Amino acid sequence: MLIDSYNRVVDYLRISVTERCNFRCNYCMPEKPFSWVPKENLLSFEELFEFIKVAVDEGVNKIRITGGEPLLREGLDKFIKMIYDYKPSIDLAMTTNAFLLKGTAQKLKNAGLKRINVSIDTLKPEVALDIAGKDVLKNVLEGVAEALKVGLKVKVNMVPMRGVNSEEIIDILEYCKQRDISIRFIEYMENAHAKVEIKGLKSPELLEVLSKKYNFSDDGFDGSSPSHYYTMEDGYKFGIIEPYEDDFCKQCNRIRLTAEGKLIPCLYFDEALSIAESIKNDDIKGATDILKEVIKTKPEKNRWGGEDGESSSRAFYETGG
Ligand code: 5AD
Ligand code: SF4
Repeated sequence: MLIDSYNRVVDYLRISVTERCNFRCNYCMPEKPFSWVPKENLLSFEELFEFIKVAVDEGVNKIRITGGEPLLREGLDKFIKMIYDYKPSIDLAMTTNAFLLKGTAQKLKNAGLKRINVSIDTLKPEVALDIAGKDVLKNVLEGVAEALKVGLKVKVNMVPMRGVNSEEIIDILEYCKQRDISIRFIEYMENAHAKVEIKGLKSPELLEVLSKKYNFSDDGFDGSSPSHYYTMEDGYKFGIIEPYEDDFCKQCNRIRLTAEGKLIPCLYFDEALSIAESIKNDDIKGATDILKEVIKTKPEKNRWGGEDGESSSRAFYETGG
């Protein structure tokens, strides 16, 4: 079992298989980065899998594939199958922008994928164009429909931004509720790569909007999920992710691996150690030692809630959020 210095059990590994993305979301990657990580620096799926085996043997039982946009990397279904075959009981999920899901959802499900998380920040095509820098809405909604049809569980993320999509909070919740999709509203996290003018809605403002239409109870946190959950009168649950709150990191159970093999203990900070050399040299003991070192250095909490609403310099497209 992997336990950090604050007694948190770390059993959740997020793997960003590429930082590249076909969207340019305003809160994540509004401009194409000056340079991408050169292809030769990326770990192959076989190499990533070598590390996954180490992490699973040490106690990881939940894996999420992220990006950038993971579906841009060819052969992803084969990678998913490698993980599934190693330990079918692993909670195997993916975060995707859903643009390429239509036509691939069935293959991913067959490979062993159980769940996906998708961003739906708007239901208006022109707002989607504004947020993602591309006319994406039709493909995204068709992709989500297909995922549901093939039996993948779907969670939706929405980042409410004042003057952009803040009027659509109820509409998007209703879209999800009608399809039995769970929704989580994510407070915009300040970071050096996002558009500077974004003003995210914080949890109290969101709750005010929602309470005008619904009655709901506060369920607090559930296990190690970062979401604060609320239950409506008819039993539908929604979540709010509040990284600026003081207790947000209390139950953090995750570490992140980038496509280059950097193992990152916290989304907010730049600190990381690379497992690339050990994996390339078949040095399993070396990779295990680095994993344990990273767990040991996992910080107690992020600094988004700091004095002046601090901003992270870590790119979300490198770590997949
Ligand atoms: N603030 C909040 N959420 C973000 N995401 C990406 N960048 C940000 C940010 N700056 C979330 C999106 C997406 C997921 C991959 O990460 O909601 O669904
Ligand atoms: Fe948008 Fe996700 Fe791509 Fe970032 S990685 S630009 S959030 S689709």
